[in-house]
Amino acid sequence: MTSRRPLLFSAFNEFVLSHHDHGGWRRADSRQPELNSAAYWVDLARLLERGRFDFLFFADVLAPYDIYRGSRDTAIASGMQTPVNDPAVLIPILAHETTQLGFVLTENILQEPPYTFARKLSTLDHLSGGRIAWNIVTSFLPGAGRNLGHAGLPSHEERYGRAEDYVTAVYKLWEASWEDDAVVADRERGIYTDPSKVHTIDHVGPYYTVPGPHLTEPSPQRTPFLFNAAASGTGIAFAGKHAEVLFTSGGRESAPENVRDLRAAAVAHGRAPEDVKIFGGLGVVVGSTEAEAHRLDRELQETQSIESILAKLSAFWQEDLSRYPLRTTVAELLNSGEGSALTRQVLRGAPDTGWDFEALLRWAANRHVVGTPEQVADEIDAWQEAGIDGLNLQYLVSPGSFADFVEQVRPVLVERGTMQRDYSPGTIREKATGSGPFLPERHPARRIRAELAAQRAAASALDHSDAEPDEQDPR
Ligand SMILES: Cc1cc2nc3c(=O)[nH]c(=O)nc-3n(C[C@H](O)[C@H](O)[C@H](O)COP(=O)(O)O)c2cc1C
Repeated sequence: MTSRRPLLFSAFNEFVLSHHDHGGWRRADSRQPELNSAAYWVDLARLLERGRFDFLFFADVLAPYDIYRGSRDTAIASGMQTPVNDPAVLIPILAHETTQLGFVLTENILQEPPYTFARKLSTLDHLSGGRIAWNIVTSFLPGAGRNLGHAGLPSHEERYGRAEDYVTAVYKLWEASWEDDAVVADRERGIYTDPSKVHTIDHVGPYYTVPGPHLTEPSPQRTPFLFNAAASGTGIAFAGKHAEVLFTSGGRESAPENVRDLRAAAVAHGRAPEDVKIFGGLGVVVGSTEAEAHRLDRELQETQSIESILAKLSAFWQEDLSRYPLRTTVAELLNSGEGSALTRQVLRGAPDTGWDFEALLRWAANRHVVGTPEQVADEIDAWQEAGIDGLNLQYLVSPGSFADFVEQVRPVLVERGTMQRDYSPGTIREKATGSGPFLPERHPARRIRAELAAQRAAASALDHSDAEPDEQDPR
């Protein structure tokens, strides 16, 4: 039976020991402690490619999580997203060892000037043959702001103001600096590039000034495939304008409403609903029988550190969660009226208000489905029915969670049509959207390209008309 359309699949990861597993790395079968070895990541990338995953997603942070107990010690002791190496250095190695898998690089817009960032991404897109995506983030860790030379994290409003300016500058570099036929590579004449087809961009924005031109010739996708995960109103408006892959925050139950809102945000910016792919997030614990799956889940839960979970969620929910006793119930916490807006949002979404706080934290830290391959496939099908286009799969132990998925769940999904049997050709934008290698004309980056080309044409027409009287000068 192949009645469904395939979903897109992304393996959610970070160049770290421990991402959202909170202790899976302690198991004897985990290779996570090999994080500093390229071999571990190459094997993982090959496994994902064998399983026809679309993307290996690298999240990134630029500070240890330090809101819990006002200290970074818990995150550092448990290895939760610290140490964290630079994914941009790893991706070319993985791209060299694979041919189809896409790589999502998360980079915060505060991290480096748009000019060097644009060159880095074009280089990665060249080296990978058009398999690079950028996850645009504005950061949520105050420590990251401090490490990047700010007094703390700039306000949410300023971060999104910067993000808008930053993407405008890089779009100009990627889309409007080098014309399609600028590179002639003429060995006879000794001309590599026609200088009349390489242009400055003269970007002057509220935060960034970038004259250009871009340093790199056009890469297979020009602008890399664009991801963004937003939750706030401002964030969703930004994602709807710019991103090609967006994430629903929350679980499957709230997905239909979230998907509607995200597509509406794209339409509000003159894009088509199908221009955006919406992803949900999920972990999977699978066994050949239900009992085996639950036994594995219990084993994994036993390795999970509640302290590590508290350290992560304190940063996500923007408050020090050490002040809530673990045995308080969700109902009591809701009645107390305490908690940040984000904590209260999660409390309201709890499946059972009789749960104690620890149960809520464990549930929120790594939502996952437990069951046989068919049961897991049923859950994935239910996500698809909720309107999503793809799933970001997070591991509880690596590479075990991904290997189990490829070996046990994938065959069922392929049979049902929910996962691709094989890759389609082309860049990751072509594979994921079925359209061309470049952004669609409706995207703001392509409008910027058209505007700059029109400005240049008008300027050159003016030059030309200025020149005409000279040509006819009778003297
Ligand atoms: C799947 C997913 C991945 C994310 N990855 C990162 C990341 O790697 N680095 C980061 O700073 N923020 C990351 N975020 C956080 C978002 O960028 C964003 O800050 C958060 O969702 C809050 O949204 P807002 O900016 O609209 O308030 C991620 C969020 C999601 C849902």
